Amino acid sequence: MTDQASTPPRKRRPRYRGTHPRRFEEKYKERDAARYPEEHTKILLSGKTPAGSHVPVLVAEVLEALAPKPGDVAVDATLGFGGHASALLRRVLPGGRLLGMDVDPVELPKAAARLEALAKELGAADAVRTVKRNYAGLRKLLDAEGLARGADIVLADLGVSSMQLDDPSRGFSWKHDAPLDLRMNPGRGQPAAMLLQRLTTEEIEDFLRRYGDEPEAERIAAALRETIEARRGESPIHLLSTSDVAAAVELAYQGRADRLASEAKKSSLQRTFQAIRILVNDELTALDAFLRDLPHCLAPGGRAAILAFHSGEDRRVKKAFQAGVESGLYARVSKDVVRASAEEKRLNPRSSPAKLRWALRAG
Ligand SMILES: C[S@@+](CC[C@H](N)C(=O)[O-])C[C@H]1O[C@@H](n2cnc3c(N)ncnc32)[C@H](O)[C@@H]1O
Repeated sequence: MTDQASTPPRKRRPRYRGTHPRRFEEKYKERDAARYPEEHTKILLSGKTPAGSHVPVLVAEVLEALAPKPGDVAVDATLGFGGHASALLRRVLPGGRLLGMDVDPVELPKAAARLEALAKELGAADAVRTVKRNYAGLRKLLDAEGLARGADIVLADLGVSSMQLDDPSRGFSWKHDAPLDLRMNPGRGQPAAMLLQRLTTEEIEDFLRRYGDEPEAERIAAALRETIEARRGESPIHLLSTSDVAAAVELAYQGRADRLASEAKKSSLQRTFQAIRILVNDELTALDAFLRDLPHCLAPGGRAAILAFHSGEDRRVKKAFQAGVESGLYARVSKDVVRASAEEKRLNPRSSPAKLRWALRAG
């Protein structure tokens, strides 16, 4: 018999974790740009977005449209990574301030910390305030912040951020197999997997057409419905995964193996995920409310700029701006959309679909 009391406890050797981290959070060096600046720059120059960040689109054009100046009150209604917001903050100081909003509780604290650090560096620690809020509630927020007169500048860069797309746990992309969620605020509403199971084939087809202009909507809807039926009885969140959506699109293209079909399939995948995201986050309802209130959120002479990423959004922005001119609320609006240059598209392919429009509040 061994004397257990006198045997020192055996120390476990730390487990070898291998050279390839398994967890997404540990995976990419460029996530820590301060520690690995070279990795970060190398990825940017190769036309890719470093993991955990978002490259802001049309920055020079947005700044030209908004003409921020020292002393201005600026609102970034879709903070994301805070790229546009940082550029605005630099220009409204000294004397100005920045109010940033976003619905995403995962990314917002990180963006807030970055902007607060920048404000401090620029000698204006109190110039930034960030709030977790839907931009549909901007007017109420301005009232609550003592800004009922309106902001000098409002920017909205619609849609999804690269951080949301790249984080496998959030189910925004077919590139990672995960439960189909796609909520920008995971604390509200229902994940896509739960929402879709309640829809008929016709209803799925309808939203794929309306929010994605998807030509293969009928086949994709039928394939999705079939998967849902086959999984009846399983836990609702596990009913559909991102790979199931990819498989449904694959099925819609069955028997078409040429290069054109392969390109078309990739576009169908993008449009299908976009349509599900718009449905799950009720994005167009929020956009309509925002556009209706926008002129009343701007001080006389204030400027707004909106970046849209698909025709459904851009049509709404164009119509709302035109209506604002007709009613005298806007003095001027952009005649044409502003698009990314060929160089920007090459360096940041996510800028390709971006359409910028601006409006100037009547004085
Ligand atoms: C394209 S990203 C913005 C990127 C940002 N301009 C930058 O430079 O990093 C869009 C952001 O809008 C947010 N968003 C989407 N719908 C929203 C809404 N209705 N209200 C507030 N934020 C919203 C998303 O969570 C996402 O972070």
